[in-house]
Amino acid sequence: MKIKKAIIPAAGYGTRSLPITKVIPKEMFPINGKPAIDYIVREAITSGITEILIVVSRNKNMIIDYFDRSLELENFLKQNNKQHLLNKLSIPNIHIQFVRQPIARGLGDAIRLGKPFVNDEPFAVLLPDDIFIEKESSLQKLIHVYHKVNSNVIGVKKVEDDLLKNYGVIDGKQVSHQLHEITNLIEKPQVSPPSNLAVAGRYVLHPDIFTYLQRVKPGSGGELQLTDALKDMLKDKKCYGQELVGDRYDIGSEKEYFELLKRLHYEQL
Ligand code: UTP
Repeated sequence: MKIKKAIIPAAGYGTRSLPITKVIPKEMFPINGKPAIDYIVREAITSGITEILIVVSRNKNMIIDYFDRSLELENFLKQNNKQHLLNKLSIPNIHIQFVRQPIARGLGDAIRLGKPFVNDEPFAVLLPDDIFIEKESSLQKLIHVYHKVNSNVIGVKKVEDDLLKNYGVIDGKQVSHQLHEITNLIEKPQVSPPSNLAVAGRYVLHPDIFTYLQRVKPGSGGELQLTDALKDMLKDKKCYGQELVGDRYDIGSEKEYFELLKRLHYEQL
């Protein structure tokens, strides 16, 4: 079945980026004049997605406004001989819906809210704070693999040993070039990570995941973790980790956000 739908969870508190995230959602951090989430929506479109659900929270209306037309601004530009700027207002041409997560109870809880939207189809998840600079879209690669293995596929990325404690890390066996069959997932391993492959913000999942999300208990940080539901699912279903080779920037890390801005700045010169 073609993967048409994607969920983009954007309702987290962004605590690592406080105080700015008190008023500006991390997903709206500017990258070359566009918010981070614009890049994610465009990655989804490039990958063949035709319907998107963005999970937001009460103080993230800015995201909803961004993906709406601004007729007032369009009229202003037309009436003031600034038509050449109209293309800057163009919004991605795709059907986007929004749902609110009342309390940021974790990524698993945010995805769970997408059940009625997904409606029994395989679907994609893109975390909007993970920006990939890659020739082929990261999600496109995962969708391609999903059709080959006909099972859940998670994007994974090689990470330096001392940083593995910040990520979900997979255990498993390599089944082909850059493809691993996952046997276990450890969230933020403080000692002895099972591999150097960390979960990397892109997923293609079978709708069965909702059964596991429904029974997941609060885990790391008291939150309902997607990783815990995936771990539970591994007992019954297969899940693969596809290595993503492009550079990944976690914009929740100030260092990586600035590295991304610097790189794009120099690439433009
Ligand atoms: P993160 O854990 O990276 O984001 O979640 P966060 O919680 O907002 O940031 P920190 O760690 O406190 O700095 C990954 C994505 O999942 C969303 C976030 O908005 C982010 O885009 N998310 C997280 C939700 O939608 N709901 C949640 O309850 C938690």
